[in-house]
Amino acid sequence: MADRYLTFTRTAPGRFLTRRLGLPRPVPLRRWSPEHPALDGPLLHLTAGDVPLPGLHEVLVRTGLAPHTGPLGTRRPAAVVLDATGVATVTALVDVHATLHPVVRSIADCGRVVVLGAPPSPADHHQAAAQQALDGFVRSLAKELGRGRTATLVRTTSAAAAETTLRFLLSPKSAYVNGQTVEVTHAAPDEHAPGIHDPARPLAGRTALVTGAARGIGEAVARVLARDGAHVVALDVPAARTDLVRVAARVGGEPLALDITADDAGERIAAALPDGLDVLVHNAGITRDRRLANMAADRWSPVIDVNLGSVLRTTDFLLKSGTLRRGGSVVATASIAGLAGNAGQTNYAASKAGVAGLVRSLAPRALGEHGITVNAVAPGFIETRMTAAVPLLIREAGRRLNSLAQAGQPVDVAETVAWLALGGVNGQVVRVCGQSLLGA
Ligand SMILES: NC(=O)c1ccc[n+]([C@@H]2O[C@H](COP(=O)([O-])OP(=O)(O)OC[C@H]3O[C@@H](n4cnc5c(N)ncnc54)[C@H](O)[C@@H]3O)[C@@H](O)[C@H]2O)c1
Repeated sequence: MADRYLTFTRTAPGRFLTRRLGLPRPVPLRRWSPEHPALDGPLLHLTAGDVPLPGLHEVLVRTGLAPHTGPLGTRRPAAVVLDATGVATVTALVDVHATLHPVVRSIADCGRVVVLGAPPSPADHHQAAAQQALDGFVRSLAKELGRGRTATLVRTTSAAAAETTLRFLLSPKSAYVNGQTVEVTHAAPDEHAPGIHDPARPLAGRTALVTGAARGIGEAVARVLARDGAHVVALDVPAARTDLVRVAARVGGEPLALDITADDAGERIAAALPDGLDVLVHNAGITRDRRLANMAADRWSPVIDVNLGSVLRTTDFLLKSGTLRRGGSVVATASIAGLAGNAGQTNYAASKAGVAGLVRSLAPRALGEHGITVNAVAPGFIETRMTAAVPLLIREAGRRLNSLAQAGQPVDVAETVAWLALGGVNGQVVRVCGQSLLGA
């Protein structure tokens, strides 16, 4: 569905009116394309605190964005990376202001600020206070930046563990990920994965299953995983077979017409994947909105079963049967409604909060016992058939009430799934919501 407001604000009368009335003026986001795969401009690498993160400069060089540590003259940075991992006291926070204050105004449109922090220490409350301060700082900066620019905090103990995350955040692929904290201390991508050293096809040689792939976000996930080299099996309900076959053909993959809530869904998936599976994307989801007082059981149970019950059952089955191979990844789909709550969606929010619970509990065990990472994306307002059904005024509020003042596109969620599918991150629920005011 076209965002007519965004188009209008790019016209002369639109610019005039929005300025006079103080209305939001969204900047069209720069997304990845084969012609334009990188951010435009240099990367400024700054350090706060006394102890820089070893190896960070080399990792930044590998992003291809030419890191500078000195002044850029008149050039506007496309990205600023502030290494604040060494900020261990509240006094050292002064460096955060001193390094970013002079450059923040010059960051290019659709540019990035990535602050690297250390996990807050349970044994040192001074370090924990200083590091937690970075979280509030980044969330506030993300609200101030505007012009399509984003800010994120990456907590890590090693530059190598953060590499896939930095590549993602410092590229146009992360256009709608804004104002949040991601922790990347647990996992490093499988060094033996065939495509891991090929940034153009990092999922080469891998097989991915995407549920709910006949349209919307699932279709975009299928396309992006295939672009990154994966062989994609696209799953959706038999009623969506025509669209499913079209999507599978387009990505050079295979269709699997199956209701994910069927009792034997796990067995049928395993049978369709005799050589095993590397990337399991739980994307299928439904809504049946009503306030609780008006919600009959037939609106409650299917939502819980499609969005959460089937996710638990199929994950358990595919892990236990060994269909999910070591070095693989599970990416489930939560929602900001599950993080913040939403009137009319007690069923949906319960199911999506349950997904976050599943990720946090299973991730350490799945990595320890099976070598598999488990994460979730939590989309905000994304332009799909699901949100096209939302009443006009609520839809318009959903689009504008985030720091980027626009809705996300299915591809924004898909790019985030593709990053998590690489296996460098574990146990995270990553919002793809432009820093929605819901669930901040
Ligand atoms: N669109 C948004 O703004 C938004 C926001 C937050 C979360 N999400 C979540 O993202 C996911 C995709 O959303 P979308 O907007 O693309 O939805 P959509 O309705 O456009 O597509 C969902 C797909 O899932 C399939 N599906 C439903 N039940 C199924 C079942 N039992 N077995 C197999 N397939 C089934 C549908 O046939 C459909 O093709 C969902 O989990 C949704 O809850 C979407």
